[in-house]
Amino acid sequence: MTNPDPPRIWHAVEIVADAELADAVGAFLLEHGAPGLQTEDRGAGVAVIAHFDRPGIADDLDPFFDHLTTNFPDSGRPSARCFEVEEAAWEENWKAHFPPLAIGTRLFVHPPWIADVPAGRIGIELDPGMAFGTGQHGSTHGCLAALDDLVTPAAAPRVLDLGTGSGILAIAAVKLGARSALAVDIDPLACEIAAVNAATNGVAAQVEIATTLGESRRDFDIVVANLFSGMLIGFANDIASRLRDGGHAIGAGLETAEADGVIEAWTAAGMEMQRRYDVEGWSTIVFSASRPAANNSSAET
Ligand SMILES: C[S@@+](CC[C@H](N)C(=O)[O-])C[C@H]1O[C@@H](n2cnc3c(N)ncnc32)[C@H](O)[C@@H]1O
Repeated sequence: MTNPDPPRIWHAVEIVADAELADAVGAFLLEHGAPGLQTEDRGAGVAVIAHFDRPGIADDLDPFFDHLTTNFPDSGRPSARCFEVEEAAWEENWKAHFPPLAIGTRLFVHPPWIADVPAGRIGIELDPGMAFGTGQHGSTHGCLAALDDLVTPAAAPRVLDLGTGSGILAIAAVKLGARSALAVDIDPLACEIAAVNAATNGVAAQVEIATTLGESRRDFDIVVANLFSGMLIGFANDIASRLRDGGHAIGAGLETAEADGVIEAWTAAGMEMQRRYDVEGWSTIVFSASRPAANNSSAET
């Protein structure tokens, strides 16, 4: 009788950082070969966890944190923990973090290992290992709820998804009835992932993916932007100017305490507050461009 193979070991790295550093931390981990990321809201910050099939990233952490401290002087220095996880425990942990989610009245976001979509719901299949945007985060959840309220096949809106990540919002918009979605992300890796997810969900033909907003059209029916509050303020005029009169803008990625600043900036840009969703400490705001949209652009992507 031979000995069974020893269990496979994953080398985990957990970085806890201020929320505004989460994108940079995720990019760093993916650049070092992480096959996927797990994020957890830790109240005062965000934990980004990655599992590698080999050790070796630990030596690069301090120089990376030095770089962050120089470039983001207002943020605290992140902390890190490296540990080993056996394959079976890793799989169970991974799956436990991504239960399927029914959102709004129509959506059902599920990982690939859950095949059954409840009757009457629209399935969005996402591989959570791939990029920010699995619906588990309160900001994504709020945007999906807002899209569920706004998008119908009869209205067939044109949608702009600014900061698409996994592509979840653009994909959901099209599956809810949008005629098309432009999915923009500054991160080329996120764009690749969004393209894969759009294909998996059978909506590649209706989802256009780009790394810049550029000179895209100025008559979107819906703009959805799940970014950070400072970026939502910076993009206020640009978002307003890309909405047709009477269209809607959905903004998320702001902790509830930050909502007032974004509401003020979006109101100043000529849009009107309609609705607000608060999910687990994260606010999602819905505005309408009921007055003619502003034309000056104040932020670049
Ligand atoms: C919080 S994630 C949102 C992902 C997904 N839309 C969701 O709702 O779960 C924000 C995304 O915005 C992207 N991003 C950051 N700055 C950007 C910019 N200036 N233009 C476009 N995308 C940007 C990041 O790369 C990241 O993928």
